[in-house]
Amino acid sequence: MIILDGKKTSNDIKAEIAESVKEITANGSRPPHLAAVIVGDDGASLTYVGSKVRACKRVGFESTLIKLSESISENELLEKVKELNSDENIDGYIVQLPLPKHIDSQKILMAVDADKDVDGFHPTNFGKMALSLPTFISATPFGIIELLKRYNVDSSGKHTVVIGRSDIVGRPVSILMSQKSSPGNSTVTLAHSRTKNIEELTKQADIIISALGVPNFLKAEMVKEGAVIVDVGITRVADNSQKGYKIVGDVDYENVSPKCSYITPVPGGVGPMTIAMLLKNTLLAYKG
Ligand code: GUN
Repeated sequence: MIILDGKKTSNDIKAEIAESVKEITANGSRPPHLAAVIVGDDGASLTYVGSKVRACKRVGFESTLIKLSESISENELLEKVKELNSDENIDGYIVQLPLPKHIDSQKILMAVDADKDVDGFHPTNFGKMALSLPTFISATPFGIIELLKRYNVDSSGKHTVVIGRSDIVGRPVSILMSQKSSPGNSTVTLAHSRTKNIEELTKQADIIISALGVPNFLKAEMVKEGAVIVDVGITRVADNSQKGYKIVGDVDYENVSPKCSYITPVPGGVGPMTIAMLLKNTLLAYKG
């Protein structure tokens, strides 16, 4: 069993990006600049955005964190988005999700300039991704593909079962895994909350990508010998630690991992990859 080490791989990618930044700034040009907008004070979102901003510093990017009140109106947030669209010093930005219930997230994401949409959430970028055109691929699916690529995991002709159909993970990764590319060329089944007998599907899978958010959902008896397991789950579960919680994946790692050819740990698997790929997209946005 080989661990798909997202921490190490993301550090490799960040080192490559830092090298590019050095070359850029050695020429006297300004470094790439990522901005992150966060609305409200949800603990998990603040942690994720904090990690993104810290990662920018590590690779030599400029970063701006824009914290807005939970009570901001949709129009005020749209104004902020317009401001960022026209700010020439900002190459790319993200609006951290979820947004408060009184704000229509789709409306906000549609207002982001597609050329600055380093999250790849704008319909233009999602559409380009689906057509295999060059674009910003959302950080989590992009991170999964890059991790499989760097470990030379063979997905061609394999049966990939994706669990979860979210717009930002399940659906895009199902499209990428079926594309004529490497990684890709998989026969993909997209399972979700209405899927019947999910176990029948997972037992046939050569590759399982689980993005469900249910701790320890995938049990050893649901997985065939030699399967590749990618665990995208990051659920906070209360414990007695100083933080008061631990991060738990969708996979019963202890019992599933001995059966696998490759598996991502949680934490230290897909999570760190998403940040590295966001930086990669920001570098792409900078280069235009
Ligand atoms: N919330 C959970 N994941 C993401 C992400 O990749 N980008 C943004 N903007 N919000 C998120």
